[in-house]
Amino acid sequence: MKLTTKQTEAFKVATSGDYSVVIFGGSIRGGKTWWLLSTMLYLCLTHAKSRYVVIRRSLPDLKRNTFPSIQELLDRYFMQAVSDWNHDTQVITFINGSQLMFMSESYNEDKDLNRFKGLEVNGFGFEEINECQKATFHKAIERSGTWLNSSGNPPTVILATLNPAQNWTKEEFYIPFVEGTLNERWKFIVSKITDNPHIPEQYKENLKMLSPIEYARFVEGDWDAVEGSENPFLWAWDEAKHVQHNIKHNPSLLTYFSVDFNVTPLCCLVIQHHGRQAWVVDEFAISPGSIEALCDRISAYGVPTGMIRITGDAMGNGRTLQQRDNSSHYLTIKKLLKLNDKQIIIPANPTHKNSRVDCNAALMKLDIKVSNSCKGFILDASQVECDSEGSIIKQNRKIITQRADLLDCFRYFVNAILKRYL
Ligand SMILES: Nc1ncnc2c1ncn2[C@@H]1O[C@H](COP(=O)(O)OP(=O)(O)OP(=O)(O)O)[C@@H](O)[C@H]1O
Ligand SMILES: [Mg+2]
Repeated sequence: MKLTTKQTEAFKVATSGDYSVVIFGGSIRGGKTWWLLSTMLYLCLTHAKSRYVVIRRSLPDLKRNTFPSIQELLDRYFMQAVSDWNHDTQVITFINGSQLMFMSESYNEDKDLNRFKGLEVNGFGFEEINECQKATFHKAIERSGTWLNSSGNPPTVILATLNPAQNWTKEEFYIPFVEGTLNERWKFIVSKITDNPHIPEQYKENLKMLSPIEYARFVEGDWDAVEGSENPFLWAWDEAKHVQHNIKHNPSLLTYFSVDFNVTPLCCLVIQHHGRQAWVVDEFAISPGSIEALCDRISAYGVPTGMIRITGDAMGNGRTLQQRDNSSHYLTIKKLLKLNDKQIIIPANPTHKNSRVDCNAALMKLDIKVSNSCKGFILDASQVECDSEGSIIKQNRKIITQRADLLDCFRYFVNAILKRYL
């Protein structure tokens, strides 16, 4: 088996016996899991009757992520050395008498770490230690080197893979590493996706769809990239790229009116598109909103009836708007503007989270230009924030960053029309 350069460096440190704690990683897909498991297999196989433990936060995580990797490594390189893999106790026994045990931390069920009491082992391998508790790490320090019946002198060592996290692992490992104050018997080796030649280009390309903060943190391994108060919904919005002067309405293209009825004022974006190109040509707000006033505004554009398309909020159910009769807003619009069914395009509203992914993908992948006259939308695009779940924060309509009516119009248009080009 051929390790990557970084894996080789960490492998040498881990098996040297000179270090008691070896941390490897700092970003996704850097070859962490393969390093951890292959190094632990090596330790088991070169030191007869040794005992090492692989720990991960939960059993489902072990089953889903760690077992497929160990199975692949065994199948490819180590099968002839295995005497038994007991899937009830999660222990692999090797022909030389060594054992590799798999334990879930299961901290919520065992806060006193009772399962570790009396455990006699040579060392541990934490898979994604940033998901584990500090107490478990300290328990592992206490239990490492307690197994005295192996042949030779197996290293007493704790290995751990790590992704950037704002928790105890940053204080314990990362900051001392950066500041040069890490315990001299501990080693931190950074491995990024670019250090792993086994990752397909297409996968790396797809990662660019992460938000800049997630990308910086998980791909570039930037520990200081934190979602703070400034968490824009449209993180891909770039005024220099997306705002354009002198965008003119094009009479030979369809004209979309994307409407947000939910609130007063009633808001609308006027958008045109041609394949992957889209132009937000105008915006308007009507206060107090009414469907008649909206239709008057639309008529005033002078667009031939056949060239009009209406999209917008699927919830247009009149919660805040007075209606002349009981038909829905869209029926009223249809009637007043003499439209047919095909001119009204209203798919179900997307969740904020999905909508955030689509809108940012649209801003990145498609050619979207917004007229500099659309001051309200430009403000929304740069200011509207969302919470850590990706939902738009709309608690206080008086705060400019928490109003998002024109952004909503844009979201509805992306969902109804542009999504198919993403
Ligand atoms: N030395 C190697 N030889 C061949 N393939 C490797 C090697 N190291 C890693 N890989 C391949 O690269 C992929 C990613 O490696 P690995 O799972 O170890 O990375 P990771 O950092 O644990 O990723 P994640 O962040 O998803 O947990 C693996 O699926 C494996 O196929
Ligand atoms: Mg992994």
